[in-house]
Amino acid sequence: MVEVAVEKGVYRGLGLARHEGQVVFVPRGLPGDRIRARIESVSRGYVRGGIETLLEGGPGRRPSPCPYVPRCGGCVYQELSYAEQLRLKEAILRETLVRAGVAWEGDLPVAGSPEMGWRMRCSFHAEQGEEDLRLGLHEEASHRVVDLERCLQISERMNRAMRDLLTGLRGRPGIARTVRGVDLAESLDGSRLVACLEGPVTAGEAAGLAALDRGAPGLTGLGAMAEGRGRRRFVLLSGEPHVHAEVRGLRLRSHVRSFFQANRFLLGRLVDEVVGHVDPGGPVLDLYAGVGLFAIPLGARGDRVVGLELNATAVEDAAHNARAHRLEHVRFRCADVLAGMAQCHVQPEERIVLDPPRTGAGPAVVDAVAARRPAAIVYVSCDPPTLARDLQRLRGLGYRADAVSALDLFPDTFHVETIVRLRPA
Ligand SMILES: C[S@@+](CC[C@H](N)C(=O)[O-])C[C@H]1O[C@@H](n2cnc3c(N)ncnc32)[C@H](O)[C@@H]1O
Repeated sequence: MVEVAVEKGVYRGLGLARHEGQVVFVPRGLPGDRIRARIESVSRGYVRGGIETLLEGGPGRRPSPCPYVPRCGGCVYQELSYAEQLRLKEAILRETLVRAGVAWEGDLPVAGSPEMGWRMRCSFHAEQGEEDLRLGLHEEASHRVVDLERCLQISERMNRAMRDLLTGLRGRPGIARTVRGVDLAESLDGSRLVACLEGPVTAGEAAGLAALDRGAPGLTGLGAMAEGRGRRRFVLLSGEPHVHAEVRGLRLRSHVRSFFQANRFLLGRLVDEVVGHVDPGGPVLDLYAGVGLFAIPLGARGDRVVGLELNATAVEDAAHNARAHRLEHVRFRCADVLAGMAQCHVQPEERIVLDPPRTGAGPAVVDAVAARRPAAIVYVSCDPPTLARDLQRLRGLGYRADAVSALDLFPDTFHVETIVRLRPA
């Protein structure tokens, strides 16, 4: 057991402390905390310590509004006031950027969101417990599922649907065994709610699950991921698989299996930030386009856009969204970004928007983007470390950041959304 003071917060919800010169990372340790910590592991020169006793809380420490903290691994900052969460995320983001050589002198406030009921999308894991099936999120640093009666991130309607589905699954233990989790997607205005049961279930088992919708009246659609002949595919069991969001007057459709941004409150702001960072005029390449969240508003303002997206279901939604708004100059291709870029001719004054998954774009994609010599690159990221890695490489390839903004799309968690515009140096 050691007694330490947390000097600062670092990414992934860790507090950084020192004991006799040795760095100790403390999960859920908050800046200013004094902690009696048990040493849990020593690896690669790092010590990981768990909070045994909180001797004194740092500024902004609060009792969590959620009864599942600290057991549930979903919200690492729920014991920190929201104003302090935003300050902490700003500090972590700034330090990560500086380490990548993006010495951002300007302001970097992280725009806040209402803290509860913000999620339009969620994925709960299912696990057969000693007594009953559990549905919820993983425990901190474990694959054991915490059975959540109610999660504060999602709406009341989503919470009710999760519990209704759980009751239905518990009543069908034979089939429920094969269900690994449940994804929910809700419309921005709350009018639709679609669930997808994560299998793998066989087509026969999927049919047996169709009746679950009768016990979950809040659902407007229910589907399952079925597996057969080595392929996974979505099977619609009842209702309709799509939800909608109206963003800046544009209605966008998304399938429960397509990626869509989770935060209902900051969706419009995110689109404004991204569209605002793309100077109007030239052609736009939208990499990792999803259902066209950025491509459609860019097209509506008159830009010619090509979107590249790997998920065929999302591409169907994107094409539908372009047709619905009569945007013939916005096109989507179902392709890996690297292969897709190779097939798109470089155009004068091209601008590139890229919004990769958490793992970032990576060196091959960054090199291919820079090789096109675009007039501007707008990089949207939900993971500061992979963003910093890619920005460092773009710097070496002659691109400098000239605008940075940040949004708290994921309150109470350690994630933060960052939008960086780069231009040729
Ligand atoms: C963070 S999401 C962004 C989607 C969209 N920009 C939005 O904000 O709604 C990343 C998207 O990249 C897609 N994706 C992942 N790897 C890809 C790849 N190698 N090539 C093309 N798209 C990919 C995913 O299917 C997902 O839709």
